[in-house]
Amino acid sequence: MPELKRLHAGHAPAVLAFELANRTYFAASIPDRGDDFFDRFTDGYKALLAEQEAGSCAFHVLVAEDGSVLGRFNLYDLEDGAARLGYRVAEQVAGRGVATATVRELCRIAIARHGLRTLRAATSHENAASRKVLTKAGFVPVGPATPADLGGKSGTWYQHDLRP
Ligand SMILES: CC(C)(COP(=O)(O)OP(=O)(O)OC[C@H]1O[C@@H](n2cnc3c(N)ncnc32)[C@H](O)[C@@H]1OP(=O)(O)O)[C@@H](O)C(=O)NCCC(=O)NCCS
Repeated sequence: MPELKRLHAGHAPAVLAFELANRTYFAASIPDRGDDFFDRFTDGYKALLAEQEAGSCAFHVLVAEDGSVLGRFNLYDLEDGAARLGYRVAEQVAGRGVATATVRELCRIAIARHGLRTLRAATSHENAASRKVLTKAGFVPVGPATPADLGGKSGTWYQHDLRP
């Protein structure tokens, strides 16, 4: 069974392999990370771990039994009981309910481990799969997301008021 784990230094090679293998797939629905992300991956990864250590973010990877990364599920800007959610799932497991089940699990973790009461996520109008994931996990639309929120696209902010 794949397991959702808190990101640590040892996940770096599998995270890089995941981002490389799915780069084109992700870029069809969300902004590409750019060559710099891949060229300077080690520095960027260390910076992520430092942010996590400082408590402002909580990063998670969905790890398969063979150690490969199937998805990334992240909480950003943890403050005052709220955080922003972001996620991406490997093309090889797309359409099997992986994102929906894992976002639901992350909601439980957000309450139990981080004491959060509210999660927010923005998704573009074109990203029908992501909208479906959010609504199935209990998020509701709360207002427009601007191109600044979504790397150039317009969309919707969703919110989930978490209940223990
Ligand atoms: C969005 C993403 C996370 C979905 O992952 P996933 O594991 O395939 O999602 P799930 O299988 O849990 O659910 C996807 C739902 O969207 C539906 N869906 C997929 N493509 C669709 C489309 N083009 N139009 C309408 N619905 C679509 C699926 O049928 C499924 O709904 P169902 O379970 O009711 O059948 C994945 O496609 C991804 O990583 N995309 C690139 C990154 C991204 O967009 N991240 C989100 C940023 S807000």
